[in-house]
Amino acid sequence: MELSREKLAHMEDAARGAGEIIRKAHETELLVENKEGHANFVTQYDRSVQEYLTERLSRVLPDARFLGEENGMDLFTPEDEKGWLFVIDPIDGTTNFMHKLHPHVTSIGLFLDGKPFAGVIFVPETGQMFSAMRGQGAFENGRRIHSSPRPLSEQVIFAGSSGYSMEAAKLAQQLAFEFQKKCHGVRTSGSAAYNLCMVASGRAGLYFESRLGLWDFAAGAIILEEAGGKITDWYGEPLSFRGSSAVLARSGGILDGELPDLASCMDTLKGLLENPGGELSDEEVAGILDSLRQRRETVTTVESLTAGMISARMADIPGSSDVLKMALVTYSDAAKESLAGVSAKTLKAHSAVSAETAREMAEGGAKKAGASAALSATGYAGPPAGPEDDTVGRVFLGCFYRGSTEVEEHQYTGSRNQVRGKARDDALRMLRRRLSDE
Ligand code: IPD
Ligand code: CA
Ligand code: CA
Repeated sequence: MELSREKLAHMEDAARGAGEIIRKAHETELLVENKEGHANFVTQYDRSVQEYLTERLSRVLPDARFLGEENGMDLFTPEDEKGWLFVIDPIDGTTNFMHKLHPHVTSIGLFLDGKPFAGVIFVPETGQMFSAMRGQGAFENGRRIHSSPRPLSEQVIFAGSSGYSMEAAKLAQQLAFEFQKKCHGVRTSGSAAYNLCMVASGRAGLYFESRLGLWDFAAGAIILEEAGGKITDWYGEPLSFRGSSAVLARSGGILDGELPDLASCMDTLKGLLENPGGELSDEEVAGILDSLRQRRETVTTVESLTAGMISARMADIPGSSDVLKMALVTYSDAAKESLAGVSAKTLKAHSAVSAETAREMAEGGAKKAGASAALSATGYAGPPAGPEDDTVGRVFLGCFYRGSTEVEEHQYTGSRNQVRGKARDDALRMLRRRLSDE
């Protein structure tokens, strides 16, 4: 299928029309609503501009389907795999728009058979129109643009704010610092589509963001690729263009070897998002110790996988020594038997990484220390792991309290240290829950 230059010009006109609505909106009162996540807003103009674009673009390509950020049109469906699909972000940079800050842009992508085919991005404040069509090059106000041939060390880059999640935002800021050391400077603009245009037009060398919606990068992807740049996820893999993704957009001059380790950042991020409770705060751990103190009770730990991390977390809290009675690290089967009293029969029948062993570790530790509470952890933190490869991340946690023991089984993902950290946090949560149940 072909798309005439005239159709692309109609898309540009529609984006200019949207820009007109957006410019005029500054003179009116905004009705702002919250969407899911932190500082994620929508105004009446996000919705009305999308409606305007849908209506206008359906006259340009009557057969085309629509996907847009607003009005419940944000899901890519199997029907979208075939034929034309407009992918619209009516206002990209809504928070900037609300604060009368530049940039906020209109982004219209056009997919053919599930892949970006054409795109236009219009910046109302400056009148910049970026556009591209597959195989035809990318343009800014009719002038051909190319991404920069310069190496990272001679570039400015854009960092995404990842503001939807505090964990993601923290990681993005750490990553921005890693980039800062390697380039002329790091900028944040508040508009993903604008950043992609800045890379496409050679002003910036790179842009990264830990999660973008399809509408954020649908148009920018083709504009960047037609300008000689590259867009991938953080593992360097091609984007699926079926939904949201981590995005790494870079100019032609930037080589893999110049980049910080984005793949391991992505692993970390996945791990953090998987453990939404995250690490317990000092106040939370102090709260557990206080509950025990008030009841004149004590706790002990028997750890193999976590090698003392659970007890160390409690020992971080000043004054913990009156409550934390004993902390055992029992890596070998022999140590589990002699120090924690796990029976040889259990170890033989169920292995060291099992619910039965976790139970006996907790019960044996409590008995040895004369404590009313005990936590245990046993598991496989990373390769080489247990009898089968898929055992990495399998963890059993035991919590003994006032004569009864509970055991949890977890299957964690992430790096060795992430698995161990999650085990520590979940073990402490188990004890907190038991104390609040009594
Ligand atoms: C947002 C902007 C922002 C990016 C967010 C996007 P919106 O789009 O592109 O720069 O950091 O991830 O959601 O909500 O203003 O259309
Ligand atoms: Ca957006
Ligand atoms: Ca938007």
